[in-house]
Amino acid sequence: MTSSPLTGEPLRSVLPALRLRGEPRLPGDKSISHRALLLAALAEGESQITGAGDGRDVAATAAIVAALGASVERVHEDGLNVDYLVASPGAAGLHEPDGVLDCGNSGTSLRLSSGVLASLPFFSILDGDASLRSRPVARIIEPLRLMGAALYARRSDSFPPLVVIGGPRLRGIDFETRVPSAQVKSAILLAGLRAEGQTTVREAVATRDHTERMLRSRGIEVRREPATSSGGGPVALTLEGGGRIRALDERVPADPSAASFWLVAGAIHPDAELTLRAVGVNPTRRAAIDILVAMGARIEERPVGGATATATRSPSAAARHMDAGEPLADLMVRSSELRGIDLDPRDVAAAIDEIPILCLAATQARGKTTIRGAGELRNKESDRITGIARGLAALGARVTVEGDNITIEGPTPLVGSPTETLDDHRLAMTFAIAGLIASGSTSIDRAESAAVSYPSFFTELERLRA
Ligand code: S3P
Repeated sequence: MTSSPLTGEPLRSVLPALRLRGEPRLPGDKSISHRALLLAALAEGESQITGAGDGRDVAATAAIVAALGASVERVHEDGLNVDYLVASPGAAGLHEPDGVLDCGNSGTSLRLSSGVLASLPFFSILDGDASLRSRPVARIIEPLRLMGAALYARRSDSFPPLVVIGGPRLRGIDFETRVPSAQVKSAILLAGLRAEGQTTVREAVATRDHTERMLRSRGIEVRREPATSSGGGPVALTLEGGGRIRALDERVPADPSAASFWLVAGAIHPDAELTLRAVGVNPTRRAAIDILVAMGARIEERPVGGATATATRSPSAAARHMDAGEPLADLMVRSSELRGIDLDPRDVAAAIDEIPILCLAATQARGKTTIRGAGELRNKESDRITGIARGLAALGARVTVEGDNITIEGPTPLVGSPTETLDDHRLAMTFAIAGLIASGSTSIDRAESAAVSYPSFFTELERLRA
């Protein structure tokens, strides 16, 4: 590794691959890992969480759970995933943390923990790195205050650090979220668990449903109207506060957002065949798979360890095996001829974490790809609209941004050059995958940010060169 002449930070270079073959190891689903840890903290007794992603984000949530008084033991780790044993006194036995709760780079740690802390009768401060301190928190302060908790944040309640003084007696609310955000929905539902009466969250666009699934698997009823589990349309979720939260052992499926990097690598590389094992294909998380298939990607979906089915746009018939109440499938991807696609704000909400890597796919697709209403991408670990457009343009792609809309014209041969990740893991991994097909050397500054969600990403990438 060399260092950047501009920043002095370590630079990683990726060279083109002649062929890509193999089975990249995947981290456990980040979203599910956070939720399993927080629910384990609220439940009295022991919960084993097997195969949690061992990225820095999930580790931040584990440290928060420990700071609240649960015992968190790492019983097994392999540099990518970790098995946790959490022994908790239950919500009533948790205590005020001694210091600031450090969420690092993790918006999910911050927002989900706020929901839990809102229902615990003590004072806490949530903080994190420079990126986290620029991420909006008014969206969680508003509903949690309505429930009776006191929350304060910097710049007139806009940005972290975030102070939460939990109410001993929260009340349920009926709340319509202003932005489609699973983090906001989940914060409200987690607070609602210990509130008096019913809590309802209404979403104009249904977001990922891991919290609801995990609560149901612990015997807590979460009513969904309409009842169907996919479709991305308006939805209302209701739970009754005061129920017992059971400790439960959980196995975390492989992360579909991490898998999407390899799905795109396989589809855009001219000589590729990659297999991804036991990936979560929850209908509210599989949008990137479906979008890639609609673009012409040759992705096959198979029951875990079983026979073949081509991926379809509907919840998969192939995905029978379930972990943590989540459907799983093996995915195989081969070199593909892609075509451009039009994505609307609903697609953006459904594939919120995969838009950067889908933009890379679009550079290799015939024709125009338009992504409309992508504004939420500016509120992620970086301003991802600016970051992806600059990085792909540096590699020779034809990308234009107008307001919150992105247009990409393809196919364009990519030429290796320096890229800037803005310290954002998903940009670092996107530019690294681009490097596999670009001519010459693609350098990635602050590439170690990949470890936020995928600690062994660069090891896997080098292993796949056949
Ligand atoms: C997440 C929800 C998404 C996503 C994040 C994880 C979650 O954020 O970007 O990486 O686990 O609920 P929003 O729901 O705020 O869009």
